[in-house]
Amino acid sequence: MRGNQTGRGAGRVWAAAVALGAALCCGLVPAGARDDRAPRFSRSGELLFPKDYREWVYVTSGLGMTYGPGQPSPGRSPMFDNVFVTRTAYREFLRSGVWPEKTMLILEIRRSEEKVSINNGGRTQGDVAAVEAAVKDTRRFPEDGWGYFSFDKEGGLVDRARPFPRTASCYGCHRNNGAVDNTFVQFYPTLFAAAREHGTVKPTYDPNRKP
Ligand code: HEC
Repeated sequence: MRGNQTGRGAGRVWAAAVALGAALCCGLVPAGARDDRAPRFSRSGELLFPKDYREWVYVTSGLGMTYGPGQPSPGRSPMFDNVFVTRTAYREFLRSGVWPEKTMLILEIRRSEEKVSINNGGRTQGDVAAVEAAVKDTRRFPEDGWGYFSFDKEGGLVDRARPFPRTASCYGCHRNNGAVDNTFVQFYPTLFAAAREHGTVKPTYDPNRKP
């Protein structure tokens, strides 16, 4: 009997510990709070690679996109690109059509594959080929308001990256051709609808203009 009571007591303590753990883990830290920590910078101004970016909001995929002087390479498999954004920034964009300070977007580029498993036609996504980032921070990047980064390294990814210098092609192409702010919202279906609704598409945006 005594033994049983002790067993039940221990069970209760255990249940309380599990409940406390669950509260700490899942109750006090609301869903989506993790990506609120991005963007994070080192003291010397390097952007830290957000390991959990695939838990952010998925924005779009492009297949074999080329632009500017870039032409599709004959005989080479087209690459997929997937865009992700932090949840707080996504919600704010839907609300106002404007990217808030500290918005961070990731462009993940993946190889495409054919005839994997049961697949006869079409293409599926393969290994990561590159990961790039854009961060809106007008204090850190006073000229453009945005900084551009690449986490690419021969044969892998680095865990931190310096911003590209302002002379890099990223800045001009994004500034001149992005439909909203410095971003390519014209290719992001749910976001483009929000931008049109809020009237934040640049008046200079012309869907037929090629750079
Ligand atoms: C010639 C134009 C051009 C240049 C140069 C360019 N990009 Fe982009 N970028 C695009 C387009 C178009 C998209 C939209 C991709 C899609 O729709 O899937 C994009 C999307 C992105 C995104 C997703 C968020 C956004 O801004 O819409 C990031 C991050 C990004 N590019 C980073 C870079 C970086 C870093 C560089 C420089 C190393 C760079 N880009 C250079 C055209 C360009």
